[in-house]
Amino acid sequence: MIDSTLSELERYYDTVPRVGGARAEDFGPLTLFVQEGKGWPYYARPALGGSGDATATATAEDVKRVLSRQRELGIPEAFEWVAETSPSLRAAVEAAGLYVHAHPLMVLDPSADALPPHPEVRLLGADDPLLTAAVTVPALAFAAPGTAVGEAGPAELAAATAEPSAEEGRSRVSGKLAAGTGAMAAAVRDGVVLCSGMFNPVGDIAEVVGVGTLPSARRQGLALGVTAALVVEARARGARTVFLSAGDEDVARIYARIGFRRVATALIAEPPAGAA
Ligand SMILES: CC(C)(COP(=O)(O)OP(=O)(O)OC[C@H]1O[C@@H](n2cnc3c(N)ncnc32)[C@H](O)[C@@H]1OP(=O)(O)O)[C@@H](O)C(=O)NCCC(=O)NCCS
Repeated sequence: MIDSTLSELERYYDTVPRVGGARAEDFGPLTLFVQEGKGWPYYARPALGGSGDATATATAEDVKRVLSRQRELGIPEAFEWVAETSPSLRAAVEAAGLYVHAHPLMVLDPSADALPPHPEVRLLGADDPLLTAAVTVPALAFAAPGTAVGEAGPAELAAATAEPSAEEGRSRVSGKLAAGTGAMAAAVRDGVVLCSGMFNPVGDIAEVVGVGTLPSARRQGLALGVTAALVVEARARGARTVFLSAGDEDVARIYARIGFRRVATALIAEPPAGAA
């Protein structure tokens, strides 16, 4: 059961960049995705459909070849993969000099009951006037990692929403919402977005991404409400598998309340802090 779920996730991870406007460059046991449009800058990951463990032969030299191509293109030196599916890749990536972060990879229990809707949470459409704020909230949230209450709140959100980059984010997400390749939910109080999140469906699989709560609005159940609304919508649109990567164990505990169960470990590699 878990093996077939992990195979499904491999196909998902290989498909998302392709439908998101990236081209795939073949590096033998590794595939480098290169964004061709304005969208998300993608990463390199294990090639799909190799014989057996496709990364069994991925060496530090293979990783270095991809890294030098990423540098040449001026794109992030990033790799993402599932530890249990590609067990030998971590050592090769570390030997090539990257730092590896581990995140609980969680899949929604298909038999989990939906939580009651949160009164302050709703889905946002492509033309929603609050969309700029909703795409900006996760940037402020991820700048204050962890689950503790913090300082940044509506005033900081208003300032960040006025930046030109906020409009770029709105336009990108608006396109996804209009095309049905993404859905967004937000918790709104007195006209202010306090928490938001998205899911990206591919076929009958959906990944919940970018759930973030303004630091000053944390620990009120808003992320729980937003994630629960995303799950209901993903299921209504036909998702059979709903999954996410939790930031850490504290965040994983929140998602466990909705019925997400840890099935594996998502690994993300990037240059160590302070590297040029
Ligand atoms: C992780 C994050 C999204 C959680 O947002 P949140 O809105 O504070 O989440 P919730 O309020 O639903 O749950 C957080 C905690 O508050 C508790 N809580 C919920 N309602 C509460 C209430 N009314 N009173 C007190 N505590 C409450 C929850 O039980 C949970 O407790 P726990 O940490 O002991 O498990 C937020 O901290 C954040 O943006 N972090 C940085 C970005 C990030 O890591 N995102 C997740 C990526 S996967």
